[in-house]
Amino acid sequence: MQLFTSSIGRKILMAITGLGMVMFVIVHLLGNSSIFAGPGGLNTYAEHLHSMPLPIIAGFRIAMLVFICVHIWFGIQLTIENRGGRPQQYAVKACQKASFASENMIWTGALLLLFIVYHLLQFTFRVTPEVAGFAGQMPGNVFGMVVTSFKNFFITFIYAGAMVTLFLHLTHGIQSFFQTMGWSNDCVQPGITKTGTLVALILFLGYVAIPLTIFAGILKG
Ligand code: HEM
Repeated sequence: MQLFTSSIGRKILMAITGLGMVMFVIVHLLGNSSIFAGPGGLNTYAEHLHSMPLPIIAGFRIAMLVFICVHIWFGIQLTIENRGGRPQQYAVKACQKASFASENMIWTGALLLLFIVYHLLQFTFRVTPEVAGFAGQMPGNVFGMVVTSFKNFFITFIYAGAMVTLFLHLTHGIQSFFQTMGWSNDCVQPGITKTGTLVALILFLGYVAIPLTIFAGILKG
């Protein structure tokens, strides 16, 4: 099938799976923001999520897993092909003014994968030491679990670093989506780049506010 073998087909698969994950990241931030309403806010939100019918929860998780696997698989393939098939990298770079974010998509992507594995072990499977007291209660006191975690400097630091990584990955990822779909040209390109950076910045600020306000003692348990 051309979609899986041609270069543009694989880029389209990466763009669509990337869009799906960006949608999740937006919805996840909106849900997580209920933490600023106190324990009642986040805990009620978590209870709503957990009370959804099992097929919906399972379907969502399987879809996310497929999206992540497809995105990583073709991301690695395209990176290898691009690096191998561009002998005159300097000439190309000089014309296109490659940014730090665009040059390092494979590395920011790899760091995000590590973060997601850690994040799931911590808040979904609850097997990391600081959340041991919250294991077994589903969803239980999600607010308490998050606040307990971000009182720890290293955990806050890991999350802040991961959010910078997410910002870098999205600044290039969003504009790359429009290019792949053929919705970009010289005229609209600067606007798309600015809007993509703004969306990535809003997500960064929204997410990083949670660990930072907890660590600073502004948001308390
Ligand atoms: C400050 C930042 C974040 C906080 C406080 C946070 C909080 C949480 C919490 C509490 C859960 C468990 C929900 C429950 O089981 O009731 C969760 C699950 C999850 N989070 Fe986050 N999250 C953050 C950032 C992110 C980011 C940036 C991503 C993706 C790049 C992400 C991806 C996920 C995924 C995939 C799940 C599992 C969803 C499921 O149960 O199916 N999170 N998060």
